[in-house]
Amino acid sequence: MDAEEGNRIFLIGYRGTGKSTVARLLAEALGWDWVDADAELEARSGRSIRSIFAEEGEQGFRDREEAVLEDLCARNSVVVATGGGVVLRESNRQRLRAACRVVWLTADADTICRRLAADPSTAERRPALTGAAGACDREEVEELLRQREPFYRACADAIVDTAHHSPEEVVRGLLDLFRIA
Ligand code: S3P
Repeated sequence: MDAEEGNRIFLIGYRGTGKSTVARLLAEALGWDWVDADAELEARSGRSIRSIFAEEGEQGFRDREEAVLEDLCARNSVVVATGGGVVLRESNRQRLRAACRVVWLTADADTICRRLAADPSTAERRPALTGAAGACDREEVEELLRQREPFYRACADAIVDTAHHSPEEVVRGLLDLFRIA
């Protein structure tokens, strides 16, 4: 692990894999800050991700997402929950690999769909990404998991299943892995 990556942990993975929950708990355990990149993007933009998609399209959202990532990669002592599509751009993948410890959180499609349906932030933060009716569409989730898997894999220093482990167990495993607490 590069010394410069040492105090920056970025969580990647599909929607509904527990990135925000794990980021908050991990940061608490480390005494670091934590940032939800989607919330940061919305605060900077002054509107929801849903309305950015509606007004600027996915491309406009991805430009904003890249700018937020660039700034977050310069922070220290921080755990970041990224948006699930941040790995789509090669420039973002390079930045993540160069600047951070990257943890890929995984879950199966059933678990993801169940969590997305139960999460109140889904309506404003998670527009459909294909022709599907919404973010909880099983076919959309399966297709995008398949498409994105190589991108997540290409960035990951560690891969952690969240479907069969509680967020607290995930955090304990990461603290052991990185030997930082
Ligand atoms: C997206 C995931 C969302 C949010 C946006 C796009 C994606 O973040 O950035 O809706 O492309 O998978 P979460 O992974 O936090 O839901």
